[in-house]
Amino acid sequence: MTKVLLNDVLVDEQEAKVAFNDRGYNFGDGIYEYVRIYDNKLFTAKEHFERLLRSAAEIGLDIDYTVESLTELVRKLAEANGVTDGGVYMQITRGVAPRDHPFPTPSVNPVFTAFVKAYERPFDELQNGVAIVTTEDIRWLRCDIKSLNLLGNVLAKEYATKYNAEEAVQHREGVVTEGASSNVFAIKDGVVHTHPANNLILNGITRRVIQWICDDENITFNEAPFTLEFLKNADEVIISSTSAEVMPVVKIDGEPVNNGEVGPITRKLQEGFDRYIQSHSY
Ligand code: PDD
Repeated sequence: MTKVLLNDVLVDEQEAKVAFNDRGYNFGDGIYEYVRIYDNKLFTAKEHFERLLRSAAEIGLDIDYTVESLTELVRKLAEANGVTDGGVYMQITRGVAPRDHPFPTPSVNPVFTAFVKAYERPFDELQNGVAIVTTEDIRWLRCDIKSLNLLGNVLAKEYATKYNAEEAVQHREGVVTEGASSNVFAIKDGVVHTHPANNLILNGITRRVIQWICDDENITFNEAPFTLEFLKNADEVIISSTSAEVMPVVKIDGEPVNNGEVGPITRKLQEGFDRYIQSHSY
């Protein structure tokens, strides 16, 4: 029987119910996080949980969780389900209150839910690369918060699905921001370019690992906005996320990148990522 966490308690998935008036349901008023499990260990868990606490603070959501308590909860969940390779989604909403836009007064308890899913690393795609499409970024201006409001991301991903692509890379007036659920990198003349970690993108943990690898390997990591045209003319293109890792892009809007071959810097970053899995999983 699959177990999930509901307010820190393990319950059978079929019995886990959330309330009709949950603000997560009515307003998308909440935050979430996703952490990867490799070989029974949590990868970069501290960075993920710190980001969750930051997201909470940024939306004025008072929670008692700490990096330590979240680590313990997630371990308990994975163990209860016997998952040694996979990922945990957790979300926290502002709680249950009659539908009204302002924060409830007096405040109500946040609602925490989490589930674990077993899956393997995407080895085929990591080896051969994926296709992406590009689309306008229609999201709000606080994409740095990992908010439950994902409608813009959902519409972008649906667009990618419609065109048989793995991801939709978004742009604001021709400036590339990020994917529907990933960060984006254009590699040109040996330099890795990516959008600055400001309000227009999520500061991805995998993005951070890529930055660490670049530092280790003396590869210049340039955080500066670039255009769609620059992306399409790059030597190599990558998308990154907790589930996709360092994912090569070999086709953009139907046109090949690097003649459809995965390039040498991408391979170097992938090798570095494998080393970080070993050194940063606890
Ligand atoms: N998504 N940008 C967006 C909009 C994302 O949703 C994600 C992750 C990322 C990459 O962040 P990270 O490297 O920390 O996973 C960037 C997760 C995986 C998701 O929503 O499923």
